[in-house]
Amino acid sequence: MSALLEKELQELKEVDWSRISPKLEKQLLEKEGDTIIDVVHQNLETIIENNRGKEEALIEVLHQVQDLIGFIPKAVQKKIARGLGVLPTEVASVISFYSHFSEKAKGKYQIALCKGTACYVKGSAEIIDKIKRKYGIESGDTTDDGFFSLEVVRCLGACGLAPVMTVNGKAHGLLNPEKAISVLEQYKNGEM
Ligand code: FES
Repeated sequence: MSALLEKELQELKEVDWSRISPKLEKQLLEKEGDTIIDVVHQNLETIIENNRGKEEALIEVLHQVQDLIGFIPKAVQKKIARGLGVLPTEVASVISFYSHFSEKAKGKYQIALCKGTACYVKGSAEIIDKIKRKYGIESGDTTDDGFFSLEVVRCLGACGLAPVMTVNGKAHGLLNPEKAISVLEQYKNGEM
């Protein structure tokens, strides 16, 4: 085994793989005997081999990796950077620029809170503020316990229910700060 491969595998081993995408979970079940590191590494090799040396393919590669794993940890960013011939800092800045990409695993419950005009005039800013303070997260973050990820978005297309949030895609409308927290606590307690 080359020193580089050994280093890459070691870096992958240091990642917290406790929250992976359903797609990767399925592959892991199908490839009996393989570890999560084996499965991730094989997939990355294939994606990178198809794009080796192509700097212009960076966003496409990030989409494929985000879709596969559910997040793009630093160890994976380094491997992508080496494969495509770009700087790791360039990979990191693209990930932080696009909200679709995430360096950390998303929470079990993904909250999208609307700050579009209809929701804003009905008090969404107070709801956002309450959620941020209650769970100690900013937009784009995940709570340390892995329960919630928060994204503040522009119009969820349900303005009649303003102010609105979705949790894993399910809409909850006509909110106020207390009602929003009560809904989230129900998710946390397994009552939703
Ligand atoms: S502005 Fe919030 S759903 Fe449209």
